[in-house]
Amino acid sequence: MKPFKIRNIEINPPLILSPMAGVTDYTFRRLIKRRGGVGLVVTEFISVEGLTRSNPKSWRQMKFDEFERPIAIQIFGAQPERMAMGAQIAEEVGADIVDINCGCPAPKVVKHGGGSALLRDLKKLEQILKEVKKSISIPLTLKMRIGYSDSEINAVEVAKLAEDCGVEHIAVHGRTREQGYKGSANWDVIRQVKEVVSVPVSGNGDITTIQYGLKKWQESGVDGILIGRGAMQNPWIFRQFQDVLEGREPYQPSVEEKRAVLLEFFEMLREEMPEFAALGKMKQLAGQFTKGLPGGALFRQKLYHSQSAQEILDNITHYFETLQKGAVYGDGVVEADLEITSCYAFSD
Ligand SMILES: Cc1cc2nc3c(=O)[nH]c(=O)nc-3n(C[C@H](O)[C@H](O)[C@H](O)COP(=O)(O)O)c2cc1C
Repeated sequence: MKPFKIRNIEINPPLILSPMAGVTDYTFRRLIKRRGGVGLVVTEFISVEGLTRSNPKSWRQMKFDEFERPIAIQIFGAQPERMAMGAQIAEEVGADIVDINCGCPAPKVVKHGGGSALLRDLKKLEQILKEVKKSISIPLTLKMRIGYSDSEINAVEVAKLAEDCGVEHIAVHGRTREQGYKGSANWDVIRQVKEVVSVPVSGNGDITTIQYGLKKWQESGVDGILIGRGAMQNPWIFRQFQDVLEGREPYQPSVEEKRAVLLEFFEMLREEMPEFAALGKMKQLAGQFTKGLPGGALFRQKLYHSQSAQEILDNITHYFETLQKGAVYGDGVVEADLEITSCYAFSD
């Protein structure tokens, strides 16, 4: 696996932080980028309806730091003219790449014809891609699912269409819209996409370990890999992946570093948002992050019930001190499931 280019932008290493609404915001992206090994970051998906109507939330979602480059701003919507306007705004604020969302399964997005609904309306998708392509000078990329349902798997057709419209990188999440996050990602369809287009293709779905990532990369022949939920469980996953790609032993963070990364996140959150919002985000990350650590379940319970910044900090300190001493926290149970319920997925 070697670096690849999206036009003149080098993706090095070829590892991408997958966009996650409510997660990959300005704070989270920088936290992950600081750990190393990330070749490209992508914003949360941003509504072009919001952007083009000056919705403050949509504009806030475009905030990024120079340090994050290269960065793709992902937009979603269903009206070609609005999508083109949204893409222009993304270019004006300095994005390196504009990415189109063609995979979101949320009913509130799909019922307006955006996200994965575009997989069922290729005429509309074509119009969108052509309009957007005309209106920007930076590269246009697409992130898609493999189809709408099991009986409508059309990733190969969509990818060819996208390439014909001038899309310069295609990211494929190996699930259908109907699947949501259930079952496992179908990397065989991802391989088929890679085989039929000449633009770079990156694969996505269920990568939480380096071994599994390498296996799927080898089987599918993709140019790059996107990791989403795996980065919440292990912010060092990109660095570890890069280490292995470059022939080194994967970096192993100490317990102290794990504690420090949670505290760093909390500090960054408090600079960006009111305390109650920071508490919510902290619970979200800490919940995923401690999957697989001894006593993580009890720690999470305590965290979810914390009402103030001080209580959260005390709980973190106590938990990690216990881990460092090698003592058992709670029942010491270790679990490591990739299970995230997402408001992005099915809420209305
Ligand atoms: C909480 C959450 C939010 C997501 N938001 C987005 C999004 O805004 N745009 C997008 O293209 N995909 C989104 N996804 C899908 C992920 O980018 C990725 O395709 C999917 O989680 C599979 O990869 P993973 O197994 O590495 O997590 C989201 C996924 C989750 C879990």
